[in-house]
Amino acid sequence: MTDFLTTLQARCSIRKFEQAPVTKQELASVLEAVQCSQSWSNTQCWTLILLEDENIRQQLQQTVPTKNPAFRAITDAGLLIAMCAQKNLAGYFKNEAGSVLGDWYMHDIGIATQNLCNQAHAIGLGTVVVGWLDHNKAQKILELPDDYQLVSLIPLGRPAQKGKSPKRKSISEFVFYDKYGAKKVLP
Ligand SMILES: Cc1cc2nc3c(=O)[nH]c(=O)nc-3n(C[C@H](O)[C@H](O)[C@H](O)COP(=O)(O)O)c2cc1C
Repeated sequence: MTDFLTTLQARCSIRKFEQAPVTKQELASVLEAVQCSQSWSNTQCWTLILLEDENIRQQLQQTVPTKNPAFRAITDAGLLIAMCAQKNLAGYFKNEAGSVLGDWYMHDIGIATQNLCNQAHAIGLGTVVVGWLDHNKAQKILELPDDYQLVSLIPLGRPAQKGKSPKRKSISEFVFYDKYGAKKVLP
């Protein structure tokens, strides 16, 4: 069995998909991965819209710039998932923001998204998070109520090619000790 870190390191965005459906079992497992995500005070602000209708997917594709490398994936992947957040929930206690950061929905949707993408990868499926789009237009197509925010679209399906993640920063570039900027030589 592959260990968890190896699974994380092997995931990469997939932008080319085979035209094959996602099975009910596969879908159930990625939704369970979202379900078990941690969130602010367990507020679970996520709502997912599963896009199976070709016509709606084509309309959503029109909200994505053609220059976006994930443009084709919006219609080609077995399934498209809209990651939406209920606003004024994550980060609040009785409608009062619990921190200067205000609404934590981007944070909590990010966690749910990453769980979804990692589980998809673990069962041999590919994903790419698509955030470069016209959110206002897409919200209208999805008929999202005003107290919800569309965050991203995630094509999910069978990879048509092996992907490779771009290079990451070295750990020493993003870790300090005790105070900002203080470095140590790692063993
Ligand atoms: C919030 C977010 C938005 C993204 N939006 C897009 C997008 O619109 N189009 C795209 O092709 N990739 C998009 N990506 C994928 C990133 O480009 C990708 O995750 C990054 O380059 C690292 O590559 P990897 O996922 O293969 O490790 C997005 C990723 C995140 C987390």
